[in-house]
Order: sequence, then C-alpha cells, then structure tokens
Amino acid sequence: MRIDIITAVPDLLISPFEHSIIKRSKDKGIVEIYLHDLRDYSKNKYRQIDDYPFGGGAGMVLMIEPIEKCINKLKSERAYDEIIFMSPDAPVLTQSLANQLSLFENIIILTGHYKGVDQRVRDHMITREISIGDYVLSGGELAAAVLVDSVVRLLPGVLNDETSALSDSFQDGLLSAPIYTRPAKYNDWEVPKVLLSGNFAEIEKWRHEEALKHTKKLRPDLLKDDII
Ligand code: ADE
Repeated sequence: MRIDIITAVPDLLISPFEHSIIKRSKDKGIVEIYLHDLRDYSKNKYRQIDDYPFGGGAGMVLMIEPIEKCINKLKSERAYDEIIFMSPDAPVLTQSLANQLSLFENIIILTGHYKGVDQRVRDHMITREISIGDYVLSGGELAAAVLVDSVVRLLPGVLNDETSALSDSFQDGLLSAPIYTRPAKYNDWEVPKVLLSGNFAEIEKWRHEEALKHTKKLRPDLLKDDII
C-alpha cells in the first residue's frame, strides 16, 4: 500500500512513522508513506499557502492552488483509490472503515491546518472526509497519524501473529476481553482461574462473556440486537 500525506506541517508526522509496527512495515516493503510539504507547491516566494477568509472571521484558510497542484502531480503519477481529507466535521473513523481502507492500493490524505481549507477543495478534489472524534485538534496531522496507524496494522504480514488484529476490540463489534500475563498472582490480585485451566473452549466462552459484559458497561451504544 502507498500512502501520500499532504500537510502544511510535515515535521509533525515524522516521528509517528519512524517506530514500532509502522517502521517495521515500511522496512518490510508492506507500506510506503510519503510526506508532501504544501509549501513546496506555493507559487509565492514567501511560500504562502493560506489567506484570510472571504467575508471576514477569525483564522486563516488553506488556499486551493498549492493543494490542487500537489494532488494533480500525484494523480499524474498513479491512480488513487481515495483522496481523504481529515476534518472534525466529517464521519467518525471506525474499525470497519479502517478495514475497508486497508484493502486499497494508493491513498492520499490531506490534512487541514489553521482554520480549515477552502471549501472548493472539499467539493471538487476530495473523495472522502474522516474525523477521528468529536473534538477539535490544531490540525489534521495527528488525526492522519491515527488513521494511518489503524490501517497499516491491518495489512497482511504486518502483525507477527496473523490472528492478533482479528481479536482486537471492535473487530467483532465488541470491546476486547481482559488479558493477563505472569505472575498468576501479584499481591492479592489473581488471574481468573479459567485462563490457567488449559480448556480452550471454556477460555473462548469466558472471553466472549467478558467482552459482552465490558461492552454493555462501557460502550452500550456498540451493542446491536444481533450480538448475543
Ligand atoms: N482536524 C482537527 N480536528 C480533527 C479531528 N477531530 N479529526 C480529524 N481531523 C481533525
């Protein structure tokens, strides 16, 4: 998979992709991630990429031209499955959407900064808008890092144990069951006995019940009628 990220602040996105699972995925050639500095596409000698909003109001707005130039350059080099804009006023990222995006070959992610982006970019160049939650960040860069992380870990060959993404929270519509490791007893706190029993049918049953219990308590909104 190839991911091109267009941003006004590329430095914000260096570290998130230089460690752990994403770094290993890049090293293995499973994902390629390219950062594009919007200022490189400014026609202005001051590398200006934003301007005042028409009609007045607080904050600066990212201009169309540098964004269009960058997107058009990328599109002239390869076909893209999706051109995504990160924005708080958009549908919220879910595990199911991350699963869908992980099937794509090439995606562009545009991140907003300052007050936002000229609406004509959203109307004419963007194919999908994604929010990472109902709160406002200073820019879309951290949101893009969250999106990329959620997608890359699903790509085949990224996680060592192929089943581990399948047992994530949300993959079956439930939060995940609690997990434990050694020691079996710490202070007075004991690991549930069933996990030490070696009876895998019982363990699976317990995990499902616990997942259901946790979901009911912490995220009842996730429970649909068809989950029992
Ligand atoms: N940019 C600013 N806030 C955001 C959010 N919650 N999700 C995605 N992009 C954003």
